[in-house]
Amino acid sequence: MDQRSQERQSLWQVTATVPSYPPLTASVQTSVAIVGAGISGLTTAYYLAKAGIAVVVVDDGPVGGGETGRTTAQLTCILDKGYAETRRLRGDAGAQAAAASHRAAIDAIEQIIATEKIECDFMRIDGYLFLAADDDISTLKTEYEAAYEAGLTDVRLVDAMPLGNTAFGPALHFPNQGQFHILRYLNGLCQAIERMGGQIYCNTRINQVHGGTPTRLETADGLQITADVSVLATNAPINDFLGYSSRVFAHRTYVIGVRIPRGSIAPLLAFDTADPYHYVRLHVEDDHAVLIVGGEDHRTGQPEELAAPFAALEQWTREYFPMAEEVMYRWSGQVLNSLDGLALIGPDLVDEHVFVITGDTGMGMTHGTLGGIILADLIMGRPHPWAALYDPARLPLGAAGEVLSETVSTIAQAKEWFSGGDVDSVNEIPDDSGGVIGMGPAKTAVYRDAQGTLHYCSAVCTHTGCIVGWNDVEKSWDCPCHGSRYDAFGRLLNGPAKDDLGPAKPIAE
Ligand code: FES
Repeated sequence: MDQRSQERQSLWQVTATVPSYPPLTASVQTSVAIVGAGISGLTTAYYLAKAGIAVVVVDDGPVGGGETGRTTAQLTCILDKGYAETRRLRGDAGAQAAAASHRAAIDAIEQIIATEKIECDFMRIDGYLFLAADDDISTLKTEYEAAYEAGLTDVRLVDAMPLGNTAFGPALHFPNQGQFHILRYLNGLCQAIERMGGQIYCNTRINQVHGGTPTRLETADGLQITADVSVLATNAPINDFLGYSSRVFAHRTYVIGVRIPRGSIAPLLAFDTADPYHYVRLHVEDDHAVLIVGGEDHRTGQPEELAAPFAALEQWTREYFPMAEEVMYRWSGQVLNSLDGLALIGPDLVDEHVFVITGDTGMGMTHGTLGGIILADLIMGRPHPWAALYDPARLPLGAAGEVLSETVSTIAQAKEWFSGGDVDSVNEIPDDSGGVIGMGPAKTAVYRDAQGTLHYCSAVCTHTGCIVGWNDVEKSWDCPCHGSRYDAFGRLLNGPAKDDLGPAKPIAE
């Protein structure tokens, strides 16, 4: 069984099939080993294979079965942190390079689609940044000036988005953005990689990453992948994550897909200025359209303030889009936010023969594509003009406050080692729910399934030992420290952990 099969399926997973590849069955040697068959890993493989370099891609699940399949597949240069904040953190040149690189990423996707003749519903559309209900027009004016200075001279401040709905106020209009069906796109990438000689293996988990020359990856089955260089395109790097724990922070984000009549609104991308923000796009099927709305983000494992994210999204959607009919899809995803809103792309923090792509900060499609563009050059020994902007080793000085608040939030989780569990007895756990019982490292994560049967595993995260907590919205065990997640039975869903939760003895009722 796919380890992620318990999670709610995204619209992309329901409406497309991805190619299936067998697991690796023998040790292999190659030039570049890539871990992760999402957009980052496959784009890197595509550009390297196109340059005649031997590549082997492995993934612990199916193609696009990680966070790539859980995106909303928006292609935009509307930065997660905005241009004013990016300029404060990375200077004028940094904001300009961020704008240019994200535009180039959309162009690159369009180019690949044309070259490989990929049918994936790609279209160029307008993007908008609109005022949240309690925000002030000065936010948009500041952002307009910063975006213009960053080189986006075609951005305009408009009175309203073209939705015919006065509930939306003024907005910044970013022309020539894009959207596509991500899994249909990955399908085309896989075919191109195979045609150019690349190898792809699924359901192959990497347990150990050894740097040096050559690099060596060890699979859970004891096989080896030996390569001149390795690329970790796994959302959260699966090598020593601690160096990244002060640079990227895991958040959950939630998405609903609501049926609306075809033609009731024009395709567009829209983001509001709230924190956390809402994001909106349209997907059109033969006889109906699906309005995709996301948001309600929170630190993974720390959802105290958020009891019902899907209900909150639905309420927001019905308020702004009165044509909304039934909710067809509900899904969620894991976003790794970086300190300055830009991804970490380049050599690993400790080994120059290992490369990483992480910290997508809600812009996984463009950042993942940039990862492939930049790493292909670096791996081939060519400097890349955006390598410094995305260097994983950077620590933006202006982000000290954010480092402090995120680190305090992580350290605060250590209290769980010295406190009791969140329930005293398994009798307190309702059906299809979970609770943590016990003290310190003896804590047990107990799940009572829908039939009332109890399932036990250790509550100690296999990454570096924080205590997991029950996530009743997604029916999972989530680690509040660095974002690892496990299904209700303790099977790994999201790294940086590489192993399932350990076993635990049953507890008397
Ligand atoms: Fe690091 Fe759990 S993810 S301790």
